[in-house]
Amino acid sequence: MRAGGQRAARGPTPARRRVRVALGERSYPIEIGHGTLAELGPAVARATGAGRVMLLTVPPVARHYAARVERSLRAAGLKVTRFVVPDGERTKNLLQARKLYDAMLSAGADRSSAVLALGGGVVGDLGGFVAATLLRGLPVVQVPTSLLAMVDSSVGGKTGVNVPRGKNLVGAFHQPRLVWIDSATLSTLPGRQLAAGMAEVVKHAAILDEKLFRRLERDVPRLMDLDPTVLVPVLQRNCAIKAEVVARDEREAGPRMLLNFGHTLGHAAEALKGFRGILHGEAVSMGMAFAAHRSEELGLAPSGTAERLVDLLARVGLPTALPDFPRSAYLRALSVDKKKRAAHIHFVVLRRIGKAETRPLRPAEIWPARRRRGTVRAGRTRR
Ligand SMILES: NC(=O)c1ccc[n+]([C@@H]2O[C@H](COP(=O)([O-])OP(=O)(O)OC[C@H]3O[C@@H](n4cnc5c(N)ncnc54)[C@H](O)[C@@H]3O)[C@@H](O)[C@H]2O)c1
Ligand SMILES: [Zn+2]
Repeated sequence: MRAGGQRAARGPTPARRRVRVALGERSYPIEIGHGTLAELGPAVARATGAGRVMLLTVPPVARHYAARVERSLRAAGLKVTRFVVPDGERTKNLLQARKLYDAMLSAGADRSSAVLALGGGVVGDLGGFVAATLLRGLPVVQVPTSLLAMVDSSVGGKTGVNVPRGKNLVGAFHQPRLVWIDSATLSTLPGRQLAAGMAEVVKHAAILDEKLFRRLERDVPRLMDLDPTVLVPVLQRNCAIKAEVVARDEREAGPRMLLNFGHTLGHAAEALKGFRGILHGEAVSMGMAFAAHRSEELGLAPSGTAERLVDLLARVGLPTALPDFPRSAYLRALSVDKKKRAAHIHFVVLRRIGKAETRPLRPAEIWPARRRRGTVRAGRTRR
């Protein structure tokens, strides 16, 4: 895998794909294509009915794509104002939201305006949150440019910001009117971010779709090279999985919990590292490897399940061994997991590749005393 920079987009442009998120009158389409950014304008006009678009983005994305998006929006008759916020997770806060309320109102935001979030999950969450709250709710269009945002955060309607007490603790459910995915934008995404996004792709396959898992095992090299003939269908399948889970469970009570596969230990690892030097997808990869091994130990999954998962994660270039902290530190981190119900955590286990379920387990059952770190580290990290 290349370390980053420009990956060439090759091959014939595959047909555009669409996924519908079925949520009654809040249903919306996810449009997936390769090299389609310049065609976005008319779709935004149709989906939002807006006359004015507040385009929110960050410098690394603006540099490559903002002008193209603006041209397309203006050609469709929309007025556009660009808002560029500093890059990174720390931008996802209430102060930034307040600055955006002021700036957007000064720029003439009114009931006929829409917000367009062009960027990764940070821009999507912040833009979605501002759209959910400004003037009691404006339409939002998500144009995700990171792999994680394409397959995960842009679909589902969760928006929010971080507060000092924790991540994503303030927010709102606000479904977008349209999600527009141009997979060619991944060519400028740093390689480490691309791999991190792949963790959620592998997760979707591992919990719900064995066929997708087999496709990933076969096509990882072409996928990481952004070959659109592989990439576009894989994106479509991932969005369809997320859309289906969300449609069945918009407010996150039942099936949506399966999406937490790998996240219990993943969140603990992120927290223990102080959210530094570890990307969310990397932590999820480690958490999935742990959960898969644990599923085997509990006699829930056939032996070999974890090895197959760890192999695929390693081929993507993801780490699978948890950071080196004592078990007691992990247990402490687990007991403050916000997904905790009483003393139990709904821990997601695999029954096999393609099938997952939740088990109510106490932290000490998730990571029993006799379990040695050695088994956690069973994942070989090949590159
Ligand atoms: N709402 C949800 O359901 C949900 C789900 C999962 C994650 N999230 C949130 O998503 C956020 C993480 O998203 P992320 O991983 O996309 O992080 P991010 O938005 O910080 O993007 C990662 C980096 O890649 C850059 N980038 C994005 N697209 C690029 C492109 N095409 N070319 C060059 N650079 C590009 C960004 O500027 C940033 O530096 C977190 O805040 C997390 O809480 C939300
Ligand atoms: Zn995640």
